[in-house]
Parts: sequence; C-alpha cells; structure tokens
Amino acid sequence: MLLANAFAILAYLIAAVLFILSLRGLSSQETARRGNLYGIIGMGIAIAATLSLKGLPSPSPALIASIGIGAAIGGVMAARVGMTQMPELVALLHSFVGVAAVLVGYSIQLAATKHGGALSLKMAIEVYIDVIIGAITTTGSVLAFLKLRGSVSGKPLLLPARHMANAGMAIAIVVLAVLYARNGQTWALAAGTAIACVLGVHLVAAIGGADMPVVVSMLNSYSGWTAAAAGFMLGNDLLIVTGALVGSSGAILSYIMCRAMNRSIWNVIFGGFGAEPPKKAAAGAQQPAGEVQDIDHATLAGKLIEAKHVVIVPGYGMAVARAQHAVRELTELLRKKGVDVKFAIHPVAGRLPGHMNVLLAEASVPYDIVLEMDEINGDLPATDAVIVIGANDIVNPGAEDDPSSPIYGMPVLQVWKSKLVVVNKRSRAAGYAGVDNPLFYKPGTRMLFGDAKDAVEKVVSALRAQA
Ligand code: TAP
Repeated sequence: MLLANAFAILAYLIAAVLFILSLRGLSSQETARRGNLYGIIGMGIAIAATLSLKGLPSPSPALIASIGIGAAIGGVMAARVGMTQMPELVALLHSFVGVAAVLVGYSIQLAATKHGGALSLKMAIEVYIDVIIGAITTTGSVLAFLKLRGSVSGKPLLLPARHMANAGMAIAIVVLAVLYARNGQTWALAAGTAIACVLGVHLVAAIGGADMPVVVSMLNSYSGWTAAAAGFMLGNDLLIVTGALVGSSGAILSYIMCRAMNRSIWNVIFGGFGAEPPKKAAAGAQQPAGEVQDIDHATLAGKLIEAKHVVIVPGYGMAVARAQHAVRELTELLRKKGVDVKFAIHPVAGRLPGHMNVLLAEASVPYDIVLEMDEINGDLPATDAVIVIGANDIVNPGAEDDPSSPIYGMPVLQVWKSKLVVVNKRSRAAGYAGVDNPLFYKPGTRMLFGDAKDAVEKVVSALRAQA
C-alpha cells in the first residue's frame, strides 16, 4: 500500500511539472499546441494516479461510467463551441469547479456530523474557506455565463450602497466562520454558503457587459483558489499545486487585462468595475460630427498599392465574418508587391484574450508581423494606411480625449494618427461598449461598409485586377 501511494505521489509530481510546462507552452502561439498536449497528458496521469491510490474505494463501474460520460460531453462541447462563445463556456466550467468544491466541503462536514464527531479546527477552517470561495465562484460564474450569453441584461446592477452591502455580507461570512469554527454546526456553514451565493451574484451583477472578460478571468482565479483549498482539505498535494497555478495565473491575467483597460483590479474584486457614471464631458472633447466618407474597393486597392507601410487592425467583426483567410490573402498579395504589412493587436480585441492571435495563426499569418498595441502605436504616424477590419472600441479616440465616454482611459490603437484610415464594418453601429466612435467622422477616415469577408475578398480581387 505504501509503495502504491509512493507511485501515486511520483505520478502527481510528474503531472504537476507537466501542468507548469503546459502553462509555459500556452504563453506563445508557436508552442501553444505542445502546451495543450502537456496539459492533457498531465491530467491523464493525475486521474490515473488518483484512481490507483490505495485507501480509496476501488474505482466502481459507476465512477468509470461517470468519467466517460463527462469526457464525452466535454469533447462534444469543445468541438461545437464557436470561438466567440469561448468566454461563456469558460465561465460555465468555472461554476462546475465551484460546485465540486462546495460538494466536497459538505461531504466532509456531513460525514463528521453523521458519526457524531466534530472536525478539527484546522479542518473546519479548510472546509469553510473551500465552501465559501466555491459558492462565490459558482453563482458569480453562472451569472457571468448568463450575461455573456445574453440571457440576462449585460447592464450593471447598481444598487444604492452596494459597497456597504458587500462589506456587510463579508462581515457576516467572517462572523459565521468564527461560529462554525467554534461549534462545527452545519447551520453556520449553510448560512455562510447562502450569503456567499448572494455575494457572488451581487459582485458580478454590478459589472457592465464590456468588462466581463476581466471578471471571467478573475473567476478563473477564484476557481483555482477553491481547488487549492479543496487540496488542503483532502490532503491532496496535486490539487494544491494545480489550484495555486490556476489561481495565480488567473489573477495575473486579470491584472494584465485591467492594465490594458486602464482599470483598477480592486474594482473587479469588489464589484464596482466599469460601473462608475461617466464624467462630464471636458471642454473641447471631440464629438462625432455625424458625416462619414465612403471608399470603394478599387480605390482602396489603388491606395494600398501606392503605400509603403500598411497596418491591419483586426477586431471582433473579423471573427464574426470569418475573414481571417481573406485577410491573409490580402497580406500575401501586398507583401509580394513590396508593401510592408503589419498587424496591430489590441489586448482585448474580439471577445477573449488572444482571440485575434488565434484566428491569424489559424490562417497562417506569420507571427513576426503580428505586433502588440504597445509595440506598434509609436509607428502609426509613419504608416501610410491602416485598415480596421471589424474593430470598433479598440480604435475609439474617445477613450483618450472624451472623459464622458464609458471607455475613457482604456488604452487604444491610435490609428487616426496614420495618413489614411479605412474602417470596414457593416454599418455605423456601436461596438461592444455601446459607444459612438468619433474615428468614423475624422477627415482622414474612409468607411468601407460591408461584411468583412466579402469586403476584403473584393479588395483582393481589385488588387489582382490592378496588377
Ligand atoms: P467591438 O468594439 O465589439 O466592434 C466590433 C465591430 O465589428 C462592431 O462595431 C460591428 O459593427 C463589426 N462587425 C460585426 N460583424 C461584422 C461583420 N460580419 N463584418 C464586418 N464588421 C462586423 O470589437 P473590438 O473593437 O474588437 O473591441 C472588443 C470589445 O469587446 C471591447 O469593448 C472589449 O472590452 C470587449 N470584450 C473583449 C473581450 C476580450 S478578452 N477580448 C471579451 C469580451 C468583451 P457593425 O455591426 O456595424 O458591422
């Protein structure tokens, strides 16, 4: 039995190393596939080692069948999910982690009360922390899922004195923790869980739709910490390591995203993120002039042939239209004609972190011409033409010069500094944040209306015709 457990511990160590290698691999497009593979192998080893642990009831057919059914459902969901639905799927999966943590905590508590004993102080603290974070993660994630799916309104729910309400709930959870630690009674745990469920809903309800990606990433972090707490509770080292990896990487990603949007991470944690009323417009802030100027495909093709430096800014619309292959064709054609083409990627372009990078990689756009916002913003004034494909909020100058704009303070791609900006979208409609874009009305901007795939394909045809 000791030998079997020693093997399981060794297998856990190997799995933990594979998870670290997986995270490392996922940090760059070139190594992402390998990183994913490390993660899959690590998880396979972890499950096999857990099932082989002596002291556990031997894996029953019901357990094996449950794992099989779960894996099949996961496989079908992963194969079916659209790229733009990924954040809502991730939010839903976080809620499963939360539910699992709550159930494990209650099973330990109920087993102790059934046998008439009480949990040790250490165990009671571990159970309480696990259940509370799990409950907040569950209800917060379910609401995030419903908001992202559009099943409930994405508008922030701003109750009066909401910060006081959050503080009151946090204090009540702490008081119940003390009571639970003292008497170990299930009612204190249940009352704490109920309040944590309400707190999870309230924290996420106060957050506007445009800020949901940061919330999902924060919930990802919570789900990691809840798994780590479950690891302490179950005495499972791998769960502690894996939970800490997920918890810290989710927190780091949230921090990076907050920096990209010029927001405070504390506002995400305390649930006031993106909910501040817009400030009064500053004198001189630019207001949309109302008139836009069109450009046709052939004229654009002509301008692009004359250009030396072209920058392409992809956004959510490119993903919706699945225009990435047409965009790659346009890029190849221009580069063959000696035009220097670069891609400018905003950290929150699209609907999930790395959304544009994944699509461009799928279309085999070379990695070395795909630049991050900070790397390319300085080059935009020397750019002859910028083509904005289905992007809106990430190129909105109001984020820099209109304090009344809800996205004021969010760093954006300064495309208006280029000699010519061509914006492709289907209409003048607003983007995710629901705000008008003064870029459309600037003298150097031309609108190329239409579906992104169709529009880019027509520009490619016009380029070929002019060659
Ligand atoms: P958006 O601001 O959402 O703008 C996308 C634009 O694409 C829309 O204005 C839409 O205009 C156009 N569009 C839609 N379908 C199109 C099609 N078939 N062909 C051409 N254009 C089409 O996107 P963005 O600039 O990428 O900015 C991202 C926004 O999403 C930010 O506000 C960000 O905070 C938020 N967000 C980001 C994430 C992450 S992590 N990336 C997750 C959730 C939310 P028309 O309807 O006129 O065509």
